Amino acid sequence: MATPVICFLQRANNVVSRRSLHVTCALDKSRTAAEQRWLARQMKDPYVREAQTHNYRCRSAFKLLEIDNKHHILQPGHHVIDCGAAPGAWSQVAVEKVNSLGRDSAASAGFVVGVDLLNIAPLDGAVFLSNSDITDFDTQKKIISVLPSGKADVILSDMAPNATGIRDLDHQRLVNMCLSLLELSERVLLSGGTFLCKVWDGSEINLVRDRLRQRFQDVRTVKPKASRMESAEVYLLAKLHRQQKR
Ligand SMILES: C[S@@+](CC[C@H](N)C(=O)[O-])C[C@H]1O[C@@H](n2cnc3c(N)ncnc32)[C@H](O)[C@@H]1O
Repeated sequence: MATPVICFLQRANNVVSRRSLHVTCALDKSRTAAEQRWLARQMKDPYVREAQTHNYRCRSAFKLLEIDNKHHILQPGHHVIDCGAAPGAWSQVAVEKVNSLGRDSAASAGFVVGVDLLNIAPLDGAVFLSNSDITDFDTQKKIISVLPSGKADVILSDMAPNATGIRDLDHQRLVNMCLSLLELSERVLLSGGTFLCKVWDGSEINLVRDRLRQRFQDVRTVKPKASRMESAEVYLLAKLHRQQKR
């Protein structure tokens, strides 16, 4: 029987093959066992259903909503960089929270720029830099040029490399991405700004935490309920950026 789900199909050799689709996926024999297991889990997942109800592009919206509800990181008027933004659910949340469409005329209007290696479908209230590597210097220059003041209040990263399945290697690659974003934060993040990044738990997580502690007054590790218990992902939330003296 066919069951509607939001489906993010990521093929084994996925170079740039992630697709964000509202599709009707059938548990049929043409799928591999891993795909069948993945689909079965999606169909049972309450966050997948909620994402459909609220028109979010994927369930990860609820991770950011939960973190923001608790830690108040996104405010009207904020300028936000969303790193690894595809398919765009975090940007959807950011657009609402920072009032980038100016729907609340009594509040300041913010700005959201999202960046991803993949194509990101347009979203009202956000500027997207698709097919762009955030670790690339030219991409970073472009981000700075589109930000209204060249500066950001918040850097969000739900970025993840394509997993190899080798836990230590995947962990190390994500740690390197986080460290690269920290360099970006030194150029664009305002004093008092916030940095939120995903990291897979592992031996180097303390290195990222220590670097964050040198540059932010308040650093904590958060694991929203929407993040699956069996997943090694946690988020490092760093608030109150200290401007480096140059
Ligand atoms: C888990 S998804 C992000 C989901 C997103 N937060 C949302 O709510 O829609 C991780 C994304 O990071 C992107 N990514 C990985 N490495 C990247 C890089 N170097 N530059 C830009 N994006 C990258 C991937 O292409 C992928 O789309």
